[in-house]
Amino acid sequence: MNRNMEINPTTNIKTNKVAVVYKSKYGSTREYAQWIAEETEGDLFEATTVRGKDLERYDTIVYGGGMYAVGIMGIKLLRNNYENLKDKKIIVFSVGLAMESPEAMEHIKEKNFTEEMRENVELFMLRGAFDLDQLNIGDKMMMKTLKRKIQMKDPESLNEDERGIIQCCEQPMNVMDRESIKPIIDQVTNRVNVPQKIKTIQL
Ligand SMILES: Cc1cc2nc3c(=O)[nH]c(=O)nc-3n(C[C@H](O)[C@H](O)[C@H](O)COP(=O)(O)O)c2cc1C
Repeated sequence: MNRNMEINPTTNIKTNKVAVVYKSKYGSTREYAQWIAEETEGDLFEATTVRGKDLERYDTIVYGGGMYAVGIMGIKLLRNNYENLKDKKIIVFSVGLAMESPEAMEHIKEKNFTEEMRENVELFMLRGAFDLDQLNIGDKMMMKTLKRKIQMKDPESLNEDERGIIQCCEQPMNVMDRESIKPIIDQVTNRVNVPQKIKTIQL
Protein backbone atom coordinates (compact mmCIF):
# COMPACT_ATOMS: atom_id res chain seq x y z
CA MET A 1 0.00 0.00 0.00
CA ASN A 2 1.19 3.50 -0.73
CA ARG A 3 2.37 4.81 2.62
CA ASN A 4 1.66 8.37 1.59
CA MET A 5 -2.06 7.77 1.29
CA GLU A 6 -4.14 9.43 3.94
CA ILE A 7 -7.46 8.20 5.21
CA ASN A 8 -10.21 10.64 6.03
CA PRO A 9 -11.25 9.32 9.50
CA THR A 10 -14.90 10.26 9.10
CA THR A 11 -15.48 8.82 5.65
CA ASN A 12 -12.77 6.14 5.62
CA ILE A 13 -12.02 7.16 2.07
CA LYS A 14 -8.46 7.07 0.87
CA THR A 15 -7.48 10.51 -0.33
CA ASN A 16 -5.11 11.09 -3.16
CA LYS A 17 -3.30 14.39 -3.04
CA VAL A 18 -2.37 15.39 -6.54
CA ALA A 19 0.23 17.90 -7.70
CA VAL A 20 0.19 18.93 -11.34
CA VAL A 21 3.46 20.57 -12.32
CA TYR A 22 4.17 22.01 -15.73
CA LYS A 23 6.75 23.86 -17.79
CA SER A 24 5.53 25.53 -20.93
CA LYS A 25 7.03 28.03 -23.34
CA TYR A 26 4.03 29.05 -25.44
CA GLY A 27 1.08 27.91 -23.34
CA SER A 28 -0.05 24.50 -24.66
CA THR A 29 1.37 22.54 -21.75
CA ARG A 30 0.02 25.08 -19.29
CA GLU A 31 -3.46 24.64 -20.71
CA TYR A 32 -3.29 20.82 -20.48
CA ALA A 33 -1.95 21.11 -16.92
CA GLN A 34 -4.86 23.40 -15.98
CA TRP A 35 -7.36 20.91 -17.41
CA ILE A 36 -5.72 18.01 -15.56
CA ALA A 37 -5.59 19.93 -12.27
CA GLU A 38 -9.25 20.85 -12.71
CA GLU A 39 -10.35 17.27 -13.32
CA THR A 40 -8.21 15.71 -10.60
CA GLU A 41 -8.77 18.55 -8.12
CA GLY A 42 -5.00 18.74 -7.94
CA ASP A 43 -2.75 21.63 -6.96
CA LEU A 44 -1.22 23.34 -9.97
CA PHE A 45 2.39 24.54 -10.02
CA GLU A 46 4.63 26.08 -12.63
CA ALA A 47 7.85 24.05 -12.44
CA THR A 48 10.18 26.92 -11.64
CA THR A 49 8.09 27.90 -8.60
CA VAL A 50 8.30 24.52 -6.91
CA ARG A 51 11.11 22.48 -5.33
CA GLY A 52 11.36 18.71 -5.03
CA LYS A 53 10.78 19.06 -1.29
CA ASP A 54 7.40 20.76 -1.90
CA LEU A 55 6.22 17.70 -3.82
CA GLU A 56 6.93 15.24 -1.02
CA ARG A 57 3.53 15.83 0.58
CA TYR A 58 1.65 14.61 -2.49
CA ASP A 59 0.61 11.04 -3.34
CA THR A 60 0.51 11.58 -7.08
CA ILE A 61 2.64 13.87 -9.18
CA VAL A 62 1.67 14.66 -12.74
CA TYR A 63 4.47 16.43 -14.58
CA GLY A 64 3.97 18.00 -18.01
CA GLY A 65 6.55 19.68 -20.22
CA GLY A 66 6.60 21.12 -23.72
CA MET A 67 8.77 19.16 -26.15
CA TYR A 68 11.82 20.88 -27.58
CA ALA A 69 14.24 18.83 -29.70
CA VAL A 70 12.84 15.69 -28.01
CA GLY A 71 13.56 17.14 -24.56
CA ILE A 72 10.72 17.52 -22.05
CA MET A 73 11.03 21.03 -20.63
CA GLY A 74 11.97 21.13 -16.97
CA ILE A 75 12.06 17.35 -16.51
CA LYS A 76 15.19 17.74 -14.40
CA LEU A 77 12.93 18.69 -11.50
CA LEU A 78 11.75 15.07 -11.42
CA ARG A 79 15.08 13.55 -12.43
CA ASN A 80 17.00 15.41 -9.73
CA ASN A 81 14.46 14.63 -7.02
CA TYR A 82 13.43 11.16 -8.11
CA GLU A 83 15.11 9.40 -5.19
CA ASN A 84 12.81 11.18 -2.72
CA LEU A 85 9.71 10.95 -4.89
CA LYS A 86 9.92 7.47 -6.32
CA ASP A 87 7.41 5.85 -3.92
CA LYS A 88 4.69 8.08 -5.30
CA LYS A 89 2.63 7.61 -8.38
CA ILE A 90 4.41 9.69 -11.02
CA ILE A 91 2.92 10.41 -14.40
CA VAL A 92 4.67 12.46 -17.08
CA PHE A 93 3.07 13.99 -20.14
CA SER A 94 4.93 15.60 -22.99
CA VAL A 95 3.29 18.15 -25.27
CA GLY A 96 4.58 18.31 -28.80
CA LEU A 97 3.52 18.07 -32.39
CA ALA A 98 4.79 14.55 -33.01
CA MET A 99 2.18 11.84 -33.05
CA GLU A 100 2.30 9.07 -30.50
CA SER A 101 4.01 5.85 -31.54
CA PRO A 102 5.95 3.17 -29.63
CA GLU A 103 9.18 4.40 -31.26
CA ALA A 104 8.54 8.03 -30.33
CA MET A 105 7.71 7.00 -26.74
CA GLU A 106 10.93 5.01 -26.48
CA HIS A 107 12.95 7.88 -27.90
CA ILE A 108 11.46 10.40 -25.45
CA LYS A 109 11.99 8.08 -22.47
CA GLU A 110 15.56 7.41 -23.53
CA LYS A 111 16.32 11.10 -23.77
CA ASN A 112 14.49 12.31 -20.64
CA PHE A 113 14.20 9.51 -18.08
CA THR A 114 16.81 7.77 -15.98
CA GLU A 115 16.91 3.98 -16.14
CA GLU A 116 14.86 3.78 -12.93
CA MET A 117 12.28 6.27 -14.18
CA ARG A 118 11.87 4.28 -17.37
CA GLU A 119 10.76 1.31 -15.27
CA ASN A 120 8.32 3.19 -13.03
CA VAL A 121 7.08 6.37 -14.62
CA GLU A 122 4.12 6.36 -16.97
CA LEU A 123 4.56 8.59 -20.05
CA PHE A 124 1.77 10.09 -22.13
CA MET A 125 2.33 12.04 -25.34
CA LEU A 126 -0.15 14.85 -25.91
CA ARG A 127 -0.27 17.09 -28.96
CA GLY A 128 0.06 20.87 -28.78
CA ALA A 129 0.10 23.90 -31.02
CA PHE A 130 2.59 25.80 -33.12
CA ASP A 131 2.60 29.24 -34.67
CA LEU A 132 5.86 30.36 -36.27
CA ASP A 133 4.90 34.03 -35.89
CA GLN A 134 4.55 33.67 -32.12
CA LEU A 135 7.97 32.09 -31.55
CA ASN A 136 10.84 33.95 -29.95
CA ILE A 137 13.67 34.89 -32.27
CA GLY A 138 15.90 31.91 -31.41
CA ASP A 139 13.14 29.34 -31.89
CA LYS A 140 12.00 31.01 -35.08
CA MET A 141 15.50 30.88 -36.55
CA MET A 142 15.94 27.27 -35.51
CA MET A 143 12.66 26.25 -37.15
CA LYS A 144 13.40 28.18 -40.34
CA THR A 145 16.84 26.56 -40.59
CA LEU A 146 15.33 23.14 -39.98
CA LYS A 147 12.69 23.76 -42.62
CA ARG A 148 15.32 24.84 -45.16
CA LYS A 149 17.39 21.73 -44.44
CA ILE A 150 14.37 19.48 -44.93
CA GLN A 151 13.42 21.27 -48.14
CA MET A 152 16.85 20.49 -49.57
CA LYS A 153 16.12 16.78 -49.36
CA ASP A 154 14.37 14.71 -52.01
CA PRO A 155 10.64 15.33 -51.27
CA GLU A 156 9.94 11.65 -51.90
CA SER A 157 12.28 10.66 -49.09
CA LEU A 158 10.66 12.80 -46.35
CA ASN A 159 9.20 11.05 -43.34
CA GLU A 160 5.99 12.08 -41.58
CA ASP A 161 7.78 14.26 -39.00
CA GLU A 162 9.70 16.14 -41.68
CA ARG A 163 6.55 16.78 -43.69
CA GLY A 164 4.86 17.93 -40.48
CA ILE A 165 7.64 20.43 -39.77
CA ILE A 166 7.31 22.00 -43.22
CA GLN A 167 3.55 22.13 -42.90
CA CYS A 168 3.50 23.77 -39.48
CA CYS A 169 6.08 26.37 -40.57
CA GLU A 170 3.75 27.38 -43.37
CA GLN A 171 0.56 27.55 -41.40
CA PRO A 172 -0.24 27.75 -37.67
CA MET A 173 -1.32 24.44 -36.25
CA ASN A 174 -3.38 23.59 -33.19
CA VAL A 175 -3.94 19.93 -32.44
CA MET A 176 -4.75 20.28 -28.74
CA ASP A 177 -7.48 17.96 -27.59
CA ARG A 178 -9.00 17.99 -24.10
CA GLU A 179 -10.23 14.42 -24.61
CA SER A 180 -6.64 13.22 -24.84
CA ILE A 181 -6.11 13.82 -21.10
CA LYS A 182 -8.65 11.13 -20.22
CA PRO A 183 -6.13 8.27 -19.86
CA ILE A 184 -4.10 10.50 -17.53
CA ILE A 185 -7.16 11.27 -15.39
CA ASP A 186 -7.94 7.54 -15.26
CA GLN A 187 -4.41 6.81 -14.07
CA VAL A 188 -4.53 9.51 -11.42
CA THR A 189 -7.91 8.50 -10.09
CA ASN A 190 -7.02 4.81 -10.17
CA ARG A 191 -9.85 3.98 -12.53
CA VAL A 192 -7.31 1.90 -14.40
CA ASN A 193 -6.67 -0.77 -11.80
CA VAL A 194 -6.79 -0.02 -8.07
CA PRO A 195 -10.16 0.83 -6.48
CA GLN A 196 -10.03 4.27 -4.90
CA LYS A 197 -12.28 3.63 -1.91
CA ILE A 198 -11.09 1.25 0.76
CA LYS A 199 -12.75 0.10 3.92
CA THR A 200 -9.78 -0.83 6.11
CA ILE A 201 -6.21 0.25 6.48
CA GLN A 202 -3.48 -2.37 6.43
CA LEU A 203 -0.06 -1.25 7.55
C1 LIG B 1 12.34 25.02 -31.47
C2 LIG B 1 11.21 24.03 -31.37
C3 LIG B 1 11.50 22.67 -31.23
C4 LIG B 1 10.46 21.73 -31.13
N1 LIG B 1 10.77 20.41 -31.00
C5 LIG B 1 9.77 19.50 -30.96
C6 LIG B 1 10.06 18.11 -30.83
O1 LIG B 1 11.20 17.69 -30.73
N2 LIG B 1 9.03 17.24 -30.82
C7 LIG B 1 7.73 17.65 -30.91
O2 LIG B 1 6.82 16.82 -30.90
N3 LIG B 1 7.41 18.98 -30.99
C8 LIG B 1 8.40 19.88 -31.01
N4 LIG B 1 8.10 21.24 -31.09
C9 LIG B 1 6.69 21.67 -31.02
C10 LIG B 1 6.31 22.07 -29.58
O3 LIG B 1 6.55 21.01 -28.71
C11 LIG B 1 4.82 22.44 -29.53
O4 LIG B 1 4.69 23.67 -30.16
C12 LIG B 1 4.25 22.46 -28.13
O5 LIG B 1 2.86 22.71 -28.21
C13 LIG B 1 4.92 23.49 -27.25
O6 LIG B 1 4.43 23.43 -25.94
P1 LIG B 1 4.39 24.73 -25.04
O7 LIG B 1 3.50 25.72 -25.73
O8 LIG B 1 3.81 24.27 -23.75
O9 LIG B 1 5.80 25.21 -24.88
C14 LIG B 1 9.12 22.18 -31.17
C15 LIG B 1 8.83 23.55 -31.28
C16 LIG B 1 9.87 24.47 -31.38
C17 LIG B 1 9.53 25.92 -31.50
